[in-house]
Amino acid sequence: MSVLPFRIGYGEDAHRLEVGRPLVLCGVPVPHAELGAVAHSDGDAALHAVADALLSGLALGDIGQYFPDTAPEWRGLDSRQIVARALELVQARGYAPANVALVVTLDRPKLGPLRAELARTLAELLALPETEVGVSFKTSEGLAPAHVQARATVLLTQVAG
Ligand code: C5P
Ligand code: MG
Repeated sequence: MSVLPFRIGYGEDAHRLEVGRPLVLCGVPVPHAELGAVAHSDGDAALHAVADALLSGLALGDIGQYFPDTAPEWRGLDSRQIVARALELVQARGYAPANVALVVTLDRPKLGPLRAELARTLAELLALPETEVGVSFKTSEGLAPAHVQARATVLLTQVAG
């Protein structure tokens, strides 16, 4: 059992984008996205990065161990379930997220108009106030136009045990 009352977690994820697929970030379908994620699950790179950040903070491995992308039962999986499972594992060890910082790299469309909605849905999933959820966006400057990338850090604090 760790003696540290604070733990930092970091996670990242990427998906290839293709025409004719939905693009979902933080559980929110992105309107007017010409390209969507190619994935076994719903391809929500933002939530995959957040879930890995939660797990890595307590050295609990990564989401592939809990939701293998070869398992037929996880096809089309709503990634909110992945975050919920990661949060349960963190809470079972007596920790809770204190704040989270998420960066999504995507060339198109602009995500700025969705920032508040993404932050709100992520805050709800993590049972955090919106003030503790930072969401920022970057383009790849055209280097990866058919690609979505997400990176997340989370601070976990000991709440019991
Ligand atoms: O990557 P870059 O520095 O050029 O991003 C400039 C601005 O565009 C940032 O303020 C960012 O919030 C915004 N942006 C966005 N949606 C994206 C990528 C970037 O709103 N998909
Ligand atoms: Mg993924």
